Amino acid sequence: MCGIVGYIGPRNCVPIILEGLKRLEYRGYDSAGIAIVNNGRITIEKRAGKVIDLVNKIGSNNGKFAATLGMGHTRWATHGEPNDVNAHPHFDLDKEISIIHNGIIENYQAIKTKLLREGHTFVSATDTEVLAHLIGEMYKKTGSLSAAVRYALAEIEGTYGLVVLSTHEPDKIVAARKGSPLILGIGDGENFVASDASAIIEHTRQVVYLEDGEVAEITTSGFRTMTIDDVATQKVIQEVTFELSQIERGGYDHFMLKEIHEQPETIRNAMRGRLMVEEGDVKLGGLSHVMDKLVNARRIIITACGTSWHAGLVGEYMLEQIAKIPTEVEYASEFRYRNPIVGEGDVLFLISQSGETADTLAALREAKGKGATVLGIVNVVGSSIARESDGGVYVHAGPEIGVASTKAFTSQLTVLALITLMLARAKGMSKADGQVLARELDTLPSKVARILEDTTSVRALAREFKNTKNFLYLGRGSNFPVALEGALKLKEISYIHAEGYPAAEMKHGPIALIDENMPVVVVVPRDGIYDKVVSNIQEVRARRGRIVAVANEDDNDIDSMAEFVIRVPRTYGFFGPILNIIPLQLLSYYIAVERGTNVDQPRNLAKSVTVE
Ligand code: AGP
Ligand code: GLU
Repeated sequence: MCGIVGYIGPRNCVPIILEGLKRLEYRGYDSAGIAIVNNGRITIEKRAGKVIDLVNKIGSNNGKFAATLGMGHTRWATHGEPNDVNAHPHFDLDKEISIIHNGIIENYQAIKTKLLREGHTFVSATDTEVLAHLIGEMYKKTGSLSAAVRYALAEIEGTYGLVVLSTHEPDKIVAARKGSPLILGIGDGENFVASDASAIIEHTRQVVYLEDGEVAEITTSGFRTMTIDDVATQKVIQEVTFELSQIERGGYDHFMLKEIHEQPETIRNAMRGRLMVEEGDVKLGGLSHVMDKLVNARRIIITACGTSWHAGLVGEYMLEQIAKIPTEVEYASEFRYRNPIVGEGDVLFLISQSGETADTLAALREAKGKGATVLGIVNVVGSSIARESDGGVYVHAGPEIGVASTKAFTSQLTVLALITLMLARAKGMSKADGQVLARELDTLPSKVARILEDTTSVRALAREFKNTKNFLYLGRGSNFPVALEGALKLKEISYIHAEGYPAAEMKHGPIALIDENMPVVVVVPRDGIYDKVVSNIQEVRARRGRIVAVANEDDNDIDSMAEFVIRVPRTYGFFGPILNIIPLQLLSYYIAVERGTNVDQPRNLAKSVTVE
């Protein structure tokens, strides 16, 4: 999920690679490393922390660390804590092949078990090292580096941006891509490989974009590409015309917008290798050892803060309605101080993007101390909550740089849906019913993509309401948390006061605020309580409030009731929040842009709140 840069040519690759890694720092990462091939040996330097720490480590090497062939990596851990050993590059068994890898090898455990039986030993906890060893084995069979890579990739499931070096063939780099971007940089008598152009743009603007399933062999003087089955492919060299700052954000003006648009992919990543559509079931390795506890839980308690707490509220609807497990959701900061009655028989889920939120961590310790089973739903691998919990599920959303959480939220919801389906099946849901839910989950990435395809109506809305002082957000059932999250997003980045309310609760107070200046955003999917929400809409209209409806594509009745309508595809009720929040994220983003605020780093906010 993070950064890759490789070089082959006449110059010393080390400063080129380290400079390239610095250029990739914007992506967020937890460790960095470099491998060079020189005098028939591969030498690796790597460490947890920042690129500057790696630079300092190499700097103390008296300039002896130099070569004309090398590669560097910034890692964002998915398998194994961020430490020196787990950092990339990794070696094969004989230390004659080394690889760097972005992405996830889903079936690494099965391959690892097989290799262990054959006498391999591993030093790291990563999926990547397993792939390195597999390539080493394939080299013994084929005697060709690119063939070894192709044979190994044919055996793996998952995603990769991959770069491979070897002492056997010290005149080339082999690279491959599936699901994780990789480009070749074509220089004058030198060539590059990188996860994005910003790493190499100082040296060349001529690039070749690898496609999924393509393998490349790169030498000083040229390159050739092929499929995994060794069919040659034709590539065109393209000119990068972007400015550096644009590339860093993937062409988007802000990280937040980039992260909103990544959601089809991040939601897919959360389900990858876990959702079994045909079986109508879910496999979550990090929960398998606590399945008994989960299935027999007296109740589930979810604690979290902010956006993650909103995800928990949606989780409560899913777990109670579908898996039939009594569930409570509580702010971590409240839970920890009220001397909660928890103990054995209770299962606590802690949801946290960062895995470092002080209040959530304290809630974990409180509950664990009292004998409850504590499980994390976390994005950052190896974070405190991940380490201290009894098990859990990583959401695999990749680094989230924008302070306002977007893609982490939808990934949390996706993981909660997976947990729900898994528990429902374990508690007796039929395979046929499981299949219905699994098939629907499988369609969500493409439905999210559809919402993101055309944002013109949301932008128009942002222009209309940019000077508004207050907003009300309404929703019912599992869309009540969507109203809360929509309001939070607006507050955080545009500084407009906004409140989320259960739609029916409006008449018990907030209705006093409604006049012709008050925009009321209503999440109104065509579900079992559609008519009830419509009644709430009428109550607003009667007081001349301005209705913005988030409604289904096929809802022909809503136009006559709302001043503005944002359309989203239909889905199974409890998955609705995953779609319905997307236009609300966009709305707050575009309003903030209209108002000229600092979208990615809003005032007074921190990405990870490590104080009480
Ligand atoms: C989200 O937009 C906020 N910045 C904030 O509410 C955040 O969700 C909260 O601080 C919890 O963070 P965590 O998920 O990293 O624990
Ligand atoms: N899955 C690999 C690891 O955890 C790669 C992570 C990345 O994409 O940086 O080491």
